Amino acid sequence: MECKIALIPGDGIGPEIVREAKKVLDRTAEIYGHTFHYETLLMGGCSIDAYGEPLTEETLAKAKASDAVLLGAVGGNVGNSRWYDVAPNLRPEAGLLKIRKGLGLFANIRPAMLYDELKAACPLKESIIGDGFDMVIMRELTGGLYFGEHKTEEIDGIRKSTDVLVYDENEIRRIAIKAFDIAMKRRKVVTSVDKANVLDSSRLWRAVVNEVAKDYPEVTLNHMLVDNCAMQLVMNPGQFDVILTENMFGDILSDEASMITGSIGMLSSASLGAGKLGLYEPSHGSAPDIAGKDIANPIATILSAAMLLRYSFDLDREADAIEAAVAKVLKDGYRTGDIMSDGCTKVGTTAMGDRITENLV
Ligand code: IPM
Ligand code: MG
Repeated sequence: MECKIALIPGDGIGPEIVREAKKVLDRTAEIYGHTFHYETLLMGGCSIDAYGEPLTEETLAKAKASDAVLLGAVGGNVGNSRWYDVAPNLRPEAGLLKIRKGLGLFANIRPAMLYDELKAACPLKESIIGDGFDMVIMRELTGGLYFGEHKTEEIDGIRKSTDVLVYDENEIRRIAIKAFDIAMKRRKVVTSVDKANVLDSSRLWRAVVNEVAKDYPEVTLNHMLVDNCAMQLVMNPGQFDVILTENMFGDILSDEASMITGSIGMLSSASLGAGKLGLYEPSHGSAPDIAGKDIANPIATILSAAMLLRYSFDLDREADAIEAAVAKVLKDGYRTGDIMSDGCTKVGTTAMGDRITENLV
């Protein structure tokens, strides 16, 4: 198979983790006889430095013209005035929101599972971990608070800010369908998370999810309030199969879910739309404080590359191979600092990428 992959290394640790993921993709292509053509694009702070904006129309067009996009991370220290003392729509993160919206990627899939080998790195008690957990967070990605009107004004000397939370039923329906579809391939349980005791948008969310559920009689649907869900994630994570939720709740809950897998450095993600083009990125940020030190964990990005092969190219065998190589390396006791535990071998970013590449079969 011949495909065009856009690489967006971004800022902070982005370039080093994308470099490792590319190494893994190249070896996979070699083993399975594919040709991946890469084009490296600028987004985030590095694009601000080069073009004065976080994502140019030309770059967006190039991403659109590719078959899949692999992203590292964007953003830097808020103290970096070159990137942050500017209008909100010119900051590094705005590039990320623009590419998600521009490519129509409304469905963000974030799988969170606990590898047996990482139980020691999981901050939860053994009695809570039990047999571990394996869940997928399906986060709505192009609506809600993130994309409603944002404004700050001064009225009679009082500063006032507004952020609008809007969802229409079609936006809710299409993400709900994605969640039920994925549940059908898993343990067939969807937990839809909202704040229906307070928000109108959540009440509509609940009603539409109930309508969609009628087409999936085999799937068990539960509704859960977001505050309760935050608690349940650390009290009984094993109960979740697919968590379906809106943009902001999904942002927060996926960080929580990633932490109980042992480290935020383990959580991959896929952002999908109606077609095959997807954007794949680790769920973590650009960690500017550890950038360039060869200590960042590249696994979330490498697992995102596996998702890229699976969802954009239907290369399930190849994706399985990458996931198996990651599991093998963890089993062999190699750890980056964030997931290090007693008796394991500590390695850096490059060595972790090398170990995974060597274990690909
Ligand atoms: C994420 C990130 C982004 C988000 C930021 C960087 C805008 O936290 O992908 O979860 O809030 O969506
Ligand atoms: Mg986030």
